[in-house]
Formats: sequence, C-alpha cells, structure tokens
Amino acid sequence: MNLTRCGREYAAPILDILNEAIQSSTALYDYRPRTLTMMDSWFEGKEKDEYPVIGMVDDAGRLLGFTSYGTFRAWPAYKYTVEHSIYVEKNSRGHGIGGKLLGAVIKAAGEQGFHNLIGGIDAENATSIALHRRYGFEHCGIIRHAGFKFGRWLDLAFYQRILPTPTQPADG
Ligand SMILES: CC(C)(COP(=O)(O)OP(=O)(O)OC[C@H]1O[C@@H](n2cnc3c(N)ncnc32)[C@H](O)[C@@H]1OP(=O)(O)O)[C@@H](O)C(=O)NCCC(=O)NCCS
Repeated sequence: MNLTRCGREYAAPILDILNEAIQSSTALYDYRPRTLTMMDSWFEGKEKDEYPVIGMVDDAGRLLGFTSYGTFRAWPAYKYTVEHSIYVEKNSRGHGIGGKLLGAVIKAAGEQGFHNLIGGIDAENATSIALHRRYGFEHCGIIRHAGFKFGRWLDLAFYQRILPTPTQPADG
C-alpha cells in the first residue's frame, strides 16, 4: 500500500468512490451521482490552485481512498484556510487508510503554508469525527439543518486543526 499524488488518470476510481458515498450516505450533501465530465472541472480547480489530490493505492495500483482540499471561502483573507475531504473505498474502511490519508493531507497543507484545515462533517458521521479527533482536530461549530437528504434535516459539524505554518503570514 502506498500514498501517491493523483492526477486525472485517477478520475474514474475517484468518481466511483464519491458516487458510492453520495448514493449510500450523508458524507456528501449531494443527491445525484457525478459524471466523468464533472471530474474534469474538479481536477481543473485543483490544478489551478495547486491543491494536492493524495491517494492510497494497493500493490496492484488500485485506488483505495483519497483526500484533497480546496478553498474554504472565496474571499482573499481566508487564504490560509482550506477545507479538506477524505474518502475510503467501501470495502477498505476500518484498516487505518483514513488515518494515513488524514496524516498526509495535514502534512501537505503545512508544506503549502496553510494555517487552518477545516473538516465539514455530518454530525452523525461518528467514524469520521473519531478519526479527526484522533488527528488533533477540534470541534469548532455546528450548523443545524444545514442540509436535507434522505427525507431529513442534516446537521453539519465543523472541525478544525490549526497548523504552525506559515511562519510569516502577511496581508494581501
Ligand atoms: C471516514 C473514513 C474516511 C475513515 O476511513 P477509514 O480508513 O475507515 O478510517 P481508519 O480505519 O483509519 O480509522 C477509523 C477509526 O474510527 C473508529 N471508528 C469506526 N467507527 C466508529 C464509531 N462509530 N465511533 C467511534 N469510532 C469509530 C475505528 O475504530 C478507527 O479507529 P482506530 O484506528 O483507533 O481503531 C471512511 O470510513 C469513509 O470513507 N467513510 C465514508 C465517507 C466519509 O464519511 N468520509 C468523511 C466525510 S467527512
């Protein structure tokens, strides 16, 4: 098992993992499966802002999970804050892959000089909340009834981890 940077060649397996989570869970506040065309603009956004997409692959090169981050809020003074996401393929959960990916994304955010990593986690997602707490994330708020899916209101909990970077933050 290895961590790897994922380019567009991973669009199809990333899409499969996302669509399984969209259809079976409230991990994503999304109703309909995404398409490969939508993955094009997803990767474009990552490439434009140089946001990493980090995957875990097995020895045969099959994608077991991935993590990435993106803009938290699109106003300039939020520039040191990013919001990440993390997904592990259904049959590979519970084997420590999520932990390795979360460690890798924290490291990448520090290397890119970000200060704040935010996870927006459905309040009922006990696995993800436990994982984030284990990696030093602290609860920093909840938006009640932020979403509506599967016929019910969903509460969105926010977790943050503050990083020691950047050494010299500056306006502008
Ligand atoms: C959340 C997710 C990324 C975690 O990945 P994973 O590879 O299963 O995670 P790990 O195996 O590294 O760790 C899971 C930990 O949660 C613990 N856990 C599992 N269910 C739990 C629960 N209901 N309550 C508390 N802890 C729980 C496990 O015991 C494990 O901890 P341990 O390593 O100390 O034993 C993965 O389950 C997933 O992709 N889920 C669907 C999509 C999703 O929810 N993504 C997150 C959106 S915010």
